[in-house]
Amino acid sequence: MAMMRWNEKMSVGMVELDADHKELIKVINQLGANAKDEARRNAIRQSLFALLRYAEYHFAREEKVMAACQYPEIREHKLEHRDFVERINHLHRRFDEGPEEAAAIVNEALLTFLQDWLKHHILIEDMAYQSYVELSRAAKQAARSFKATKIWWTQ
Ligand SMILES: [Fe+2]
Repeated sequence: MAMMRWNEKMSVGMVELDADHKELIKVINQLGANAKDEARRNAIRQSLFALLRYAEYHFAREEKVMAACQYPEIREHKLEHRDFVERINHLHRRFDEGPEEAAAIVNEALLTFLQDWLKHHILIEDMAYQSYVELSRAAKQAARSFKATKIWWTQ
């Protein structure tokens, strides 16, 4: 599985949200690296947990930014976020029930899904708010005041 890379075309016009997206890509790449070795199931589970928590954090931040600049499509956008979190949450729970079976699901198809989802989400869904957030002082303030700590997504 090829590593996913962030590029300038993915820039949503706000440095904080671009940085979040780069972190999400890093976590997905980590998941791909860990999935190659079956003995590293715990590392896979940890990466999945990191993805879940980081996605939750980033979506919350992005939603604050969208609300601050009164982005009209915020409702639909939030639904996309919820759907993604629900899918990852479901997969993470499977590790509690049967780590062996769960690790087997973290295969190329899943990684392709994660990469495709994020790529599509940034380039299509997120890009739609670019012109709103770029011009909004309130949006910039919302992005800056919403900070995460690494503790949030480490187990
Ligand atoms: Fe988004």
